[in-house]
Amino acid sequence: MDTVVTPAHATTHPLDPLAPGEIAAASHIVRAAHDLGAGMRFETIVLHEPADPADRRAFVSTYDIATGDLFEATVSLTHSAVTAWVPRPGAKPRIAPDEFLLAEKLAKQDPHFVAALAKRGITDLSLVCADPWSCGVFGHPDEEGRRLIQCIVWVRNRPLDNLYAHPVEGLTALVDINRGEVLRVDDIGGPPVPKGESNYAELFQKTWRKGLKPIEVVQPEGASFTVDGYGVEWCGWKFRIGFTPREGLVLYDLQIRDGEAMRPIIKRAALAEMVVPYGQPTGVHPRKNAFDCGEYGIGVLANSLTLGCDCLGTIHYFDAAVNRIDGTAQIIPNAICMHEEDAGILWKHTDFRSEMTDVRRNRRLVVSFIATVGNYEYAFYWNLYLDGTIELDIKLTGIINTAGLMADGSVGRGTLVAPGVVGHIHQHVFNVRLDMAVDGPNNTVTEVDTVADEPGPENPWFNALSIVETPLLTEKTARRRTDANAMRFWKIVNRERRTALGQHPAYRLVATSALRTPAHPRSQVGQRAGFVTHDMWVTPTRADERWPAGDYVNQSTPGQGLPAWTEQDRPVADTAITVWHSFGHNHIPRPEDFPVQPAVHCGFILQPYGFFDRNPTLDIPPAKSAHSCCA
Ligand code: CO
Repeated sequence: MDTVVTPAHATTHPLDPLAPGEIAAASHIVRAAHDLGAGMRFETIVLHEPADPADRRAFVSTYDIATGDLFEATVSLTHSAVTAWVPRPGAKPRIAPDEFLLAEKLAKQDPHFVAALAKRGITDLSLVCADPWSCGVFGHPDEEGRRLIQCIVWVRNRPLDNLYAHPVEGLTALVDINRGEVLRVDDIGGPPVPKGESNYAELFQKTWRKGLKPIEVVQPEGASFTVDGYGVEWCGWKFRIGFTPREGLVLYDLQIRDGEAMRPIIKRAALAEMVVPYGQPTGVHPRKNAFDCGEYGIGVLANSLTLGCDCLGTIHYFDAAVNRIDGTAQIIPNAICMHEEDAGILWKHTDFRSEMTDVRRNRRLVVSFIATVGNYEYAFYWNLYLDGTIELDIKLTGIINTAGLMADGSVGRGTLVAPGVVGHIHQHVFNVRLDMAVDGPNNTVTEVDTVADEPGPENPWFNALSIVETPLLTEKTARRRTDANAMRFWKIVNRERRTALGQHPAYRLVATSALRTPAHPRSQVGQRAGFVTHDMWVTPTRADERWPAGDYVNQSTPGQGLPAWTEQDRPVADTAITVWHSFGHNHIPRPEDFPVQPAVHCGFILQPYGFFDRNPTLDIPPAKSAHSCCA
């Protein structure tokens, strides 16, 4: 056992993600203590948080495909022991990458599925693609208690052809992935499969646009960051990198230099959930409400990034290690990219009398990863700027989920993107979990509105504007919406400290991508993704409150996560708080999104707001690019 427990790369910090050897060791230790037999699978093997410096621990979620029973184990890697074993009745594990092609294979082995394809003239099964979708909870008695994947179907014209140009409308196979059988084939019929090819790959592109001369990023002295294991320092910033199968990239202990002091801002930041509800009410489409974190895991789907293509400049890559369902470790090389980018002008002023000009250039440190979730890509960029700004920029790209025409030849709730090919309206709703620590552990969120005063003796010229600040003291009062009319934002304030100006240091959350998700109370999203109903939530920080739509989201029961926790209406003033921000992108597909979508953005900004006493970038030296020249 000892040889297994010792990781290949000795860990150096309690917050380091589990090394591949530790992942394998954790599954061995659990199996030795609680062998579930041949049907034993591992949903999650990850660093147990909060980390204990004296005891290296893993959190393990394991289940039995024969019974469907799921257990959570706490494993001491230090002592090779299971220290907690908790059954989670009814919980259904995420859909693992190992199960994607298995679901497709099971569908293709089913005679009803094969017959439904044949009815449509499709006989070459090697060209048939059945994507593994989570299926939600729709109350059909035969689905009760089963762990299901619904296979949504496309067919290639020929190998490597873009399958999403050819939706097989009206046909799905519902696969019981634990029992390894097709529960049901739903065939409501559909239009002929569109045969027109819409390819995007280099392989198919015949002509190339002329005149694009290279733009090269040159960093003659290398990068300005230093890396020690998973610890990073860059131009006054300091933080640690983490990675989990469910969240992907995690940032820990984010702090910034102010004179001689390092001042904390965030204890832990990561994407916590996302859901993509579709707006088409017929056929298979109401089932499409993919929770890409909670039902699949955005980390296990991370790409191995390519130098000079995904990432330009002087790059530092971090590998990621995630568990397979058999309990072994899978290494994703170059999963996290870190590099610097020029970010335009930081500030400038010309004194028009003396004609003295000062200009400084801004730059950002970009820490990123890209996940492929079936047809779609999500690229997550955490950007740190010289002035203390923190930004999450999410790029949405890949291929829209396509469908066929309605029976009457109309497009339904969507847009025609190619002859016979429809992109239905849908939304991408993200929720990020921000365990805040602005200038210390105890913070309070304050809502800031800007309002025009009523005319009167105090406002004789009708120009008066007031800043209305409202501290949000309990969980229920801190369930908030953006308000464009009030130009609303929220400050995360440390009311126990004062700056030299006598102000309480703060960061503000600027909700740049607020979204309205209808979320009818009886819809899947209304029932299972309550986090979408407010743009911001605040909870007291609890290590066991990690997942805003519940611990186990796949076929989950209603009301879990943020809606349930915040019903307690716990105090959230002057204590350790977690801020949850929901945001996203309302996606009415455009023809231009097909056959592959130019990236669209959403995200948010955290900006110092009275955190510093003045502009913290006066010490950024002027620089002049030696490579710039006149064209
Ligand atoms: Co979309």
